[in-house]
Amino acid sequence: MLHVRMDMHFSSRLQIVIMFVWCTVCSTDISCRNEAGEPVDWFIIYKLPRYKIGEVGSGVDYMYLDSSVGSWQISKYMVNTSQGAIGNTLKQLYAGQAYKSNSSVYALYNDGPPILDYIKGYGHTKGVLLFDHSQGFWLSHSIPHFPSFPERGYLYPSSGKVNGQTALCVTYRYEQFLGIAKQMVYLYPRFYNCSVPATFIAELPQLAQLCKGSKPRPPSDKSMEQLSSIKGETFVSFVKSEHFVDDIYTGWVAQALDADLLVESWQRQGHELPSNCSLPKHVMNIKRIRLPGPVLFQSHYDHSKWCVSRAYEDQVTCLGDLNRGKAQLWRGGGLVCTFNPLIFKAFRQVVDWYFGC
Ligand SMILES: *[C@@H]1O[C@H](CO)[C@@H](O)[C@H](O)[C@H]1NC(C)=O
Ligand SMILES: *[C@@H]1O[C@H](CO)[C@@H](O)[C@H](O)[C@H]1NC(C)=O
Ligand SMILES: *[C@@H]1O[C@H](CO)[C@@H](O)[C@H](O)[C@H]1NC(C)=O
Ligand SMILES: *[C@@H]1O[C@H](CO)[C@@H](O)[C@H](O)[C@H]1NC(C)=O
Repeated sequence: MLHVRMDMHFSSRLQIVIMFVWCTVCSTDISCRNEAGEPVDWFIIYKLPRYKIGEVGSGVDYMYLDSSVGSWQISKYMVNTSQGAIGNTLKQLYAGQAYKSNSSVYALYNDGPPILDYIKGYGHTKGVLLFDHSQGFWLSHSIPHFPSFPERGYLYPSSGKVNGQTALCVTYRYEQFLGIAKQMVYLYPRFYNCSVPATFIAELPQLAQLCKGSKPRPPSDKSMEQLSSIKGETFVSFVKSEHFVDDIYTGWVAQALDADLLVESWQRQGHELPSNCSLPKHVMNIKRIRLPGPVLFQSHYDHSKWCVSRAYEDQVTCLGDLNRGKAQLWRGGGLVCTFNPLIFKAFRQVVDWYFGC
């Protein structure tokens, strides 16, 4: 009996020690989290549309990519549960109640927030920022009405099931968020829940203004900012305000990157911008995607917004906010681009069919 009691005593103490060690790691490092809940430099998810070619899916299955998995992996989780990479990442906000903390900044933004009415005038941009004085993540995605208010916990909207969606999460050191905050001014995102505690206001005055609901004036109509992830991977943020009235892909990014681009975006009939080869670098619309499996679907059912260089030598991939549609010319929005070969390969090889000029 005594032996058993001592064993139990020992094991519960060990448990406390393990919990303590684990929690000092988990609570200090705000990071993108992978499918197992471990910190990662970046990840991408591609939520599959319900209507695939020759098949109707669940609308909640998705592909996952990060630097350690190497190529698209079908997730064993459903996007509408808090398991999986997005749920694990947002858990740091929801379960940790980081939204109540005065030592971290957060913002949930979406032109179409959950529950609330759509208000015109904000940038066409969706995402989450969460960081402290050490580090944090920037998750940008294409899902309307997502994510839910902090006190509600993780909820995935049923409206986000039908179409394909993408999300990019990158972990950055605190200093990089000063640059990201400057980009936010051009985007003019609709922050529907946010907090910029007192100790951050001096360094992040514009983020504090956005959080209060005011509209800081951007110094020009567009801005490019190079960002470096926590592991040193380069990401380039391109953002435009509503005053840059042009298609971001044709009028700016393709020419700035000096690369022909193939663009996957949400295009509604009668409002789409056709493939365009009138400027030195061309932009062409993708029409069909073939993910490994194979999973085939029409771009018509894909609400994601991304592009890749046509040429393998240019090796650039961007994920972002804007569609190639007429109404989008007058909207703020942006793209985050990377030259990572693994990301390029993952996106370039799924382009099954595009419209040339
Ligand atoms: C997730 O979505 C699937 C498919 O629509 C549904 O069967 C399941 O009940 C949902 N789960 C949750 C937790 O909402
Ligand atoms: C932050 O919150 C803690 C705990 O509630 C409090 O003790 C501290 O004074 C607060 N700091 C500031 C700068 O508000
Ligand atoms: C988030 O925003 C909603 C809508 O305005 C509000 O009801 C809720 O209390 C906010 N939550 C927090 C934590 O600020
Ligand atoms: C191609 O794109 C440029 C830049 O957006 C635009 O000025 C031009 O009118 C477009 N050409 C056609 C034929 O749509």
